[in-house]
Amino acid sequence: MSNTFGTIFRFTSFGESHGTAIGGVIDGCPSNVSLDYDFIQNEMNKRRPGQSLLTTPRQESDSVEFLSGIFDNKTTGAPLAFIIHNNQAASQDYVALKNCFRPSHADFTYQQKYGIRDYRGGGRSSARETAVRVVVGAVAKLILAQKNIAIYAYTSQIGSIRLTSNSVDLSNIYTNDVHCPDNATAEQMANYIKHINAEGDSIGGIVSCVIKGVPSGIGEPIYNKYESQLAAAMLSINAAKGFDFGSGFEQVSLKGSEMNDAFICHNDKVRTATNFSGGIQGGISNGEDIYFRVVFKATPTISKLQKTVDSNMHAIELQAHGRHDPCVIPRAVPVVEAMAAIVTLDLLLLSQTNKI
Ligand SMILES: Cc1cc2nc3c(=O)[nH]c(=O)nc-3n(C[C@H](O)[C@H](O)[C@H](O)COP(=O)(O)O)c2cc1C
Repeated sequence: MSNTFGTIFRFTSFGESHGTAIGGVIDGCPSNVSLDYDFIQNEMNKRRPGQSLLTTPRQESDSVEFLSGIFDNKTTGAPLAFIIHNNQAASQDYVALKNCFRPSHADFTYQQKYGIRDYRGGGRSSARETAVRVVVGAVAKLILAQKNIAIYAYTSQIGSIRLTSNSVDLSNIYTNDVHCPDNATAEQMANYIKHINAEGDSIGGIVSCVIKGVPSGIGEPIYNKYESQLAAAMLSINAAKGFDFGSGFEQVSLKGSEMNDAFICHNDKVRTATNFSGGIQGGISNGEDIYFRVVFKATPTISKLQKTVDSNMHAIELQAHGRHDPCVIPRAVPVVEAMAAIVTLDLLLLSQTNKI
C-alpha cells in the first residue's frame, strides 16, 4: 500500500476507521515552528462528523495528541508523530456488510487486491483517514502563514445548485453548515441535501479552492509541476473524481485571443491582466492567485435498496443501515484545503534547492 505523500515535507498516515486509533508521522517539518494547538484543533473541528444534519451523525471528538518532534511547544526538526483515538466505532452497524460489496465503494477492489478486508466502517478505505491529512495540513498552514500564504476552499456546487462567482465572500465559508461562501446559496444547498437524505439517497458536488500569496517560481517541472502535484493530492482524497485548475475544461471553447493572460507592469511587478491560467504556467507559479476545483461523487453508501453481489458471488439486495454522509462535500472542504497546504509547503521547500 502507498501511505506516504510528499518529497521534503512528507507524511505517512496509519490506521483504520474502527481500529484503536489513526495517526501520522510528518518528516521534513522545519524546526522552530510554534505549534498552535487551538488552531490545529479548530481545523479538525471543521471536518469532524456529527456537526449538522447534513453530515453523518457519527460523533468523533477527533482530538489530536502529539507524541514526538516537539520541545518547548516548538518543532525540533525530528519526526512529528501524532495520534487520534477512535472512540465512536459502532462496528455492529457494519456486520451486515461483512460479505457484501457495496456498489461503488472500495469493498470489492480491496478484497480482490489484498484477499482480506477490514469491513468495519470501510477499514483503511474509509474517509476517517482524512482526519490525519487535516492535522498535517494545519501544521503546513502555520508555516505558510509566516510567508503570508493563505488557502481557502469552499463548496461551489451541490448537485445542480451552483454558487455564482459574484457572490463569493471568503470570510463567509464557515458561517454555514455547507461551507459555501454565500449564505443564500448555502441554504438552498442544505435544503437539497436534507431532501436527498430523506429519500435515503446521496449527492455529489464541487469544492473550489484558491491559494493566495504564493510567490512566483514555485513548482518543479517536468514531473512535479505545481498543478500535477495538486491533482495527485486532490485525486487521492476519497470520492474525488475530477480536478481542473484555472479555467480548466472551460478552455475547450476559448480562443487563444480570448484566454491568453496578457502581461502588464503593475507597481514594479510583472502581473497578468487576466488569470485564466489559474496562477500556474509551465508548472510554475506566476505570482497570481492559484485556483482549482475538485469534483466529488455522491456518497456510495445509501439507505435506498441497491442490487449487488456478496463474496460468495450470490446476487443480493442491500439496504445500508450504517451512519453515512448524505453528501461528502461539507466535510471534504477542509481536506482539500489541507492537501493544498501540504503540496504548497512541499514545493516551497523544494524551490529552495534550485539556486545557490
Ligand atoms: C469527508 C468524506 C466523508 C465520506 N463519508 C462517507 C460515508 O459516510 N459513507 C460512504 O460510503 N462513503 C463516504 N465517503 C466516500 C468513500 O470514502 C469513498 O467513496 C470510498 O472510499 C471509495 O473510494 P472512491 O470513491 O474514491 O473510489 C466519504 C468521503 C469523504 C471525502
